[in-house]
Amino acid sequence: MSLLWTSEALVAAMDGRPLGPMPEGISGISIDSRSLQPGDAFFAIKGEAMDGHDFVTAAIKAGAGVLVVAEGKLPSLGRLTAPIIVVEDVLVALEKLGVAARTRSQAKIIAVTGSAGKTTTKEALRHVLSAVGKVHASAQSFNNHWGVPLTLARMPDDCDYAVFEIGMNHPDEIRPLVKMVRPHVAIVTMIAAAHLGFFRNLDEIAKAKAEIFEGLEPGGAAVLNRDDARFKLLDKMAHAAGVEHVYGFGENARATFKLTKCELHADHSDIAARIGGHDMIARIGAPGRHMVQNVLAVLGAAQLVGADLDKVALALVDLSAERGRGKRHVLRHPGGSTSSHPGPITLIDESYNANPASMGAAMALLNATPVTGEGRRIAVLGDMLELGDHSAKLHAALADLIVGTGTRTVFLGGPEMRALAEALPGDIKTEYRSGAEELKPVLLAALKPGDVVMIKSSKGIGFAKLVDALLGKFPAETTTSKLT
Ligand SMILES: Nc1ncnc2c1ncn2[C@@H]1O[C@H](COP(=O)(O)OP(=O)(O)OP(=O)(O)O)[C@@H](O)[C@H]1O
Ligand SMILES: [Mg+2]
Repeated sequence: MSLLWTSEALVAAMDGRPLGPMPEGISGISIDSRSLQPGDAFFAIKGEAMDGHDFVTAAIKAGAGVLVVAEGKLPSLGRLTAPIIVVEDVLVALEKLGVAARTRSQAKIIAVTGSAGKTTTKEALRHVLSAVGKVHASAQSFNNHWGVPLTLARMPDDCDYAVFEIGMNHPDEIRPLVKMVRPHVAIVTMIAAAHLGFFRNLDEIAKAKAEIFEGLEPGGAAVLNRDDARFKLLDKMAHAAGVEHVYGFGENARATFKLTKCELHADHSDIAARIGGHDMIARIGAPGRHMVQNVLAVLGAAQLVGADLDKVALALVDLSAERGRGKRHVLRHPGGSTSSHPGPITLIDESYNANPASMGAAMALLNATPVTGEGRRIAVLGDMLELGDHSAKLHAALADLIVGTGTRTVFLGGPEMRALAEALPGDIKTEYRSGAEELKPVLLAALKPGDVVMIKSSKGIGFAKLVDALLGKFPAETTTSKLT
């Protein structure tokens, strides 16, 4: 078993009080007894709905090597059969451990924020940097007040690169997180109306994202979207925060990480780019214009942390879209072999999240995917959440986006999508239902061989259920993210 932390270092970093004989160390860190691996330390974090202290017995059963619990909760826990480290506050202890992990690390650190594309960019960095060294990166979208310290505390002491996703719903959330992470490179993917419910306008969102510059290491670099309307504002804010090196990525002539050629295909993209004076070509294994944009940031950051760009570029071919973020399924339809209805159904699973920017990216993806025979391009869209007072207007505005694409068949679900249903012109065939459950039978009955279906909504609206329903009804022709 390789040790992430010795017990001695763990206790010292957290200023904890060990109870009982300690193991030599721990192999990992868990805050969820269901995914805990034997030998992990279990941190009993108090969340919004649950308190980890209620799960210490489950954590012991799952093989926890050590429990980290709060002094105040200790009396109510009874006799525990695992070693314990008692701390004042478990989340604060996790933060302290995260800070200790950062202090001992020699890794080049990259932080990623933005309104869309954080996880996609983080995963792309994990993938390409793995071709040139040992990489540690955030799990899933662990980007908040517990996700960031957890990712830090999990960072092994011998990794060469570490990639952190940092997110926010409110001002002042990113600042304390980035000060723990202390990145060498900070990427802002783009600014758009996500979580707009908590902000007055997009400038306010940009200002909250700009907090990421305040944690950059001295001499560090900001990597910003040169094509984004708020580039200048972010550039100004980066300089105001004392950042000396600010670079742009994108199509703009003044971008340091510049796209010079771009061919979009249904299942991949071919690009040429000039990355800080280095000309290169690459094939990106995951499709979409938004993916190209994310890759430019990836290439720029990779160069800034000293990675071998040729190896990084080669690794891009193996990128694949993930579940909920553009993953493709090619499904067999029972009627799919007749001459008027040849071909399978192509399902594009975008069910993980949605905001106006990512709706644009996903509709472009749908538009670029070929149909077969009499197949149609079908958009299945659910509510975009957390848009506050702007919600109805932003949902209705998707009508222009849809009219501008080759999609003429639309299924809509969720209370907010009613505004779009009302705004769509008569020549777009529209089915509106109040939610995913109600939409399911209508959608399943309507699909024909050759159709391309893109399903997208905010996670809370539950359109992942529609993806599962399609996967349940139509067997997979191939399960890869690529069309063959
Ligand atoms: N650069 C981009 N511009 C616009 N849309 C994008 C971009 N990158 C990804 N997307 C879209 O956003 C969706 C979500 O991507 P991703 O999960 O990477 O975002 P995120 O910023 O991590 O979101 P969250 O705030 O939920 O963690 C993707 O499925 C895709 O549709
Ligand atoms: Mg994410």
